[in-house]
Amino acid sequence: MSTVLEVNNIQVVYQHTVQALRGLSLSIPKGSIVTMLGANGSGKTTTLKAISGLLHLENGDITSGNIQFFGKDTRGTPPHKLVRKGLFHVMEGRRVFEELSVESNLIAATYADKEYKKNERLEEVYSYFPRLEERRRQSAGYLSGGEQQMLAIGRALIAKPKVMLLDEPSLGLAPILVNEIFEAIKRINAENGVSILLVEQNAALAFSVANYGYIIEHGRVALDGTIDKLSQNTDVQEFYLGIEKHGKSRSFKDVKHYRRRKRWLS
Ligand SMILES: Nc1ncnc2c1ncn2[C@@H]1O[C@H](COP(=O)(O)OP(=O)(O)O)[C@@H](O)[C@H]1O
Ligand SMILES: [Mg+2]
Repeated sequence: MSTVLEVNNIQVVYQHTVQALRGLSLSIPKGSIVTMLGANGSGKTTTLKAISGLLHLENGDITSGNIQFFGKDTRGTPPHKLVRKGLFHVMEGRRVFEELSVESNLIAATYADKEYKKNERLEEVYSYFPRLEERRRQSAGYLSGGEQQMLAIGRALIAKPKVMLLDEPSLGLAPILVNEIFEAIKRINAENGVSILLVEQNAALAFSVANYGYIIEHGRVALDGTIDKLSQNTDVQEFYLGIEKHGKSRSFKDVKHYRRRKRWLS
């Protein structure tokens, strides 16, 4: 299977001092959904920003390693050019233009694509997210969190991505909207062949859509494998899926603490 995106052993440093990634590698096969899990601060968002070229906005730098998008090194390619080549990063926190209407938010995103067919593109987004069509004339600022997340993903879809990076799309949303969003993610992948790198806090949810997963700890990959393999791992069950072991329930929040005592699979 061909690979659309490959991250090779990257190190990332912020402000010349804070090392956020320490030799992280991952790859996204064409047409797949790959998920990244890990405790807060483990480096997931940094990985996405390194891929989409947004690190420099925060004075971050890839100090070694490289990233290949369709076999080409992304170093030196500005973020807007990567968008045109089909790499779209949906940032955490659902960044939309709150004062613009839903439809204007979508139309604004079409400028990323020179030969866009506006109505066709809008119809496609509305086919995934009927709620956005119902609210197309409303200001985006009045949408619920879940609807704003739909709009953020819709803006990505308008740009006809080949690869979508999604940073915690379920964060803080009502379960019913989370379901709608994840159904749409599955369809976008299956029907449009968009490869997806999905960062999630909710491991069970991520596992329900992904083919392959990486567990990130302290700026590097601690464990990776197919979802089948990861779901059978007892550490993953205990810390990410909340399945009890030794009769004592613990949570994903304990992961950071846990790693001081025991390395994964050591
Ligand atoms: N703009 C920044 N400046 C300095 N350090 C940062 C910045 N952004 C993130 N970091 C640090 O990099 C590490 C990884 O952060 P991040 O990638 O946001 O983790 P995650 O998304 O997994 O929660 C953390 O230690 C965090 O404090
Ligand atoms: Mg993050």
